[in-house]
Amino acid sequence: MAFQYFQKNIDQDFHNLYTKASAEQWAVGDLDWSPIKDLDEDFKQGLVGMLTPLLVSERGAMQACVTMLPKVRDAEDYDSELVLQAMGLDEARHWEGLNRIFVEIDQEPKPITDFKAALGINYVIMRCGDFDQWLWCIQICDIIAGVLYNNIKSATDNPLVEQLFEGFLRDEARHHRFCNLFFGREASNFSKDQQRRYYKQGGKLVKKFENLMKIHLKDYMSMMGCDSTQAFEKVAKAVEGQAKKYGFAD
Ligand SMILES: [Fe+2]
Ligand SMILES: [Fe+2]
Repeated sequence: MAFQYFQKNIDQDFHNLYTKASAEQWAVGDLDWSPIKDLDEDFKQGLVGMLTPLLVSERGAMQACVTMLPKVRDAEDYDSELVLQAMGLDEARHWEGLNRIFVEIDQEPKPITDFKAALGINYVIMRCGDFDQWLWCIQICDIIAGVLYNNIKSATDNPLVEQLFEGFLRDEARHHRFCNLFFGREASNFSKDQQRRYYKQGGKLVKKFENLMKIHLKDYMSMMGCDSTQAFEKVAKAVEGQAKKYGFAD
């Protein structure tokens, strides 16, 4: 395959998104971490439980961006390749930030085997063979992360927690935009069978998320004053809305 160093016909929307990603870069290490010691014990324990599966997911997202890069390059989708480079940096920051929370509050994550539904979600994503399928699953995970991070941010006025999760949400909003651009361009070219398969897979992930909420995270979330049922409903509605928008649900 030829070494591609010039692309004449760029997709301006993808390039604008990369510009936005470049302009919005920020560093976990630049935040003032000292207020984290002011969190009360209940909130800290809720956070440890809630962030354990997310630490695994962010680590997985960080690794998967690198795994997916050669695939978009092979498909000669250089617009996506550019955006994916920035996304990898974001996911690394998310893992770094969550990991640092555990370090700063001097706690270890719970055993991941306590969160079987979260393992199931990661397993579905790891089995994705192609970029389209992976990105669809990633969009669902971005929706999940967006709702959970928003819950955490709104549950406290601790300045460190607020700033950190606000930053994560800004990044996740860009990932969401990437998915919208990609599927806006590609989804209508998918075969009926592929569309149906993606719809089914979305339903599977939402079901696993429901279990994660009802079985594993409910108590941790209520320790932080968050409502897991409401969080689940928001995710289910958003995933269904996206599937419909892309024509997967027809
Ligand atoms: Fe992330
Ligand atoms: Fe993300």
